[in-house]
Amino acid sequence: MKTLKSLFVTPEIAPWVKTGGLGDVAAALPEALRSAGVDVRILVPRYPALREAFPKAKLLTRITGLEGQFPDCALYSVVVPKKVTLWLLDAPELFDRPGNPYLNAAGQDWPDNALRFGLLSRVAAWIGSKHSTLSWHPHLVHSNDWQGALTPLYLQLFGGGSSKTARSLLTIHNLAFQGLFGQADLAPLGLPDSLWTLEGVEYHGYLSFLKAGLQFADRITTVSPTYAQEIQRDETGMGLAGLLRHRSDRLSGILNGIDTTIWNPETDPWLPAHYAEGQIKSKSLVKKALQDEMGLQGTNQMPLLGVVSRLTTQKGLDWLQVIAEELMQLPAQLVVLGSGAREMEADFLTLAARYPGQIAVRIGFDEGLAHRIEGGADMFLMPSRFEPCGLNQMISLRYGTPPVVRTTGGLADTVVDGVDGFCFSEETPEAFLSAIRRAVTAWHNAAAWKKIQRHGMTRHFGWEQAALQYAHLYAEL
Ligand code: ADP
Ligand code: GLC
Repeated sequence: MKTLKSLFVTPEIAPWVKTGGLGDVAAALPEALRSAGVDVRILVPRYPALREAFPKAKLLTRITGLEGQFPDCALYSVVVPKKVTLWLLDAPELFDRPGNPYLNAAGQDWPDNALRFGLLSRVAAWIGSKHSTLSWHPHLVHSNDWQGALTPLYLQLFGGGSSKTARSLLTIHNLAFQGLFGQADLAPLGLPDSLWTLEGVEYHGYLSFLKAGLQFADRITTVSPTYAQEIQRDETGMGLAGLLRHRSDRLSGILNGIDTTIWNPETDPWLPAHYAEGQIKSKSLVKKALQDEMGLQGTNQMPLLGVVSRLTTQKGLDWLQVIAEELMQLPAQLVVLGSGAREMEADFLTLAARYPGQIAVRIGFDEGLAHRIEGGADMFLMPSRFEPCGLNQMISLRYGTPPVVRTTGGLADTVVDGVDGFCFSEETPEAFLSAIRRAVTAWHNAAAWKKIQRHGMTRHFGWEQAALQYAHLYAEL
């Protein structure tokens, strides 16, 4: 059988550029696909972090004369030994900026995001088109989220329409981010006015990258089976449910995995002590070290609840403000690592100041502390209002840190209530609190708790299964 070639298009990739789970997925899924026999290249913008990490990247080709206001750009290639080859999209005026890939230092979207990620999509389509001058030609272009969502449309418009033109797959990691711009952006993006229709890219007066992707992709996936259902319902479809229902024969959910070499409590280099299922005693050393690090009282008389998250309404963590008093009286300790909405960050800092020694908050992005919270907390909180997949609940299951989750999206597909974690479904702080109460009661029963931990720690959340499902889909396409 011919080897399948796929171009994986992503706006972020761990460990160099990561704002959330997509960065983790982009680092792990292509590797797993390679192990499943697919020939993969990753296309990612050449941000400063990637420029610095790979100063010797080789120039592959220059691309000039694209439509609209796209600047001339270039592709650089990095062959990382035993890893998937990275293709870096070099356009310094668009990508050579420090900090967050999507936001400026004031936390606002870069004003030229349409052109920045339009170019990412356009170059992905060029690589998949019959006009590409490269010797490696993909059978399909697999793009992710709104930042890559114009790729299918560009393939139709400029792909050349021959059997050499690549097929398109779009994966939705989060329907809440749709890439909305103005009608005035059509021309700079090289898109004809005729697309300004309901069947085209127009969405309530905006130009929607994500809608374009959903409209024109050959196949659509999202990151869990339950989320694939939820986004087709009006209440949870974020304005795109109708279109997704219309395309339901092309839509499926494939559950993400986690990188089990990075996330392994037996070897995790960020942990001060290691432990495993059946030898879980040293987990208490990790807890003690975490309490010291975060200025919490060094007690084991109450459970330590952990949070690592973007701070946005999606994550439901504002409910912690409402139930904090009750949590403190349980009693329990709380450690929070997160960043995001400025107001929510401030609320958490106020909360920590109110309960010194019992609540500790760190605002920022800190890979090492994220690992130590996964290892050192007794349970992990994810009360998400919606959650396409979620990686932290799988990580915490593996770390013997049973998660308390709302049954939505990928959380519903990965946590089994009362067996390896604790679930609630009502979207209220009271329901969240009552699930935490059940977890705390179980924690006080050492034998019961160990059993719950064991169930979680022995589950398999690697990428192998997902990679096979993607490879199967690639083959179908
Ligand atoms: P989302 O992509 O919606 O943010 P996921 O659960 O899929 O949620 O993935 C989040 C990823 O980002 C996890 O790897 C998590 O550990 C990491 N993460 C989130 N916030 C922080 C933070 N403040 N510091 C370090 N890692 C974080
Ligand atoms: C998104 C979602 C999260 C998912 C991640 C990776 O950021 O919010 O649920 O796990 O993408 O697919």
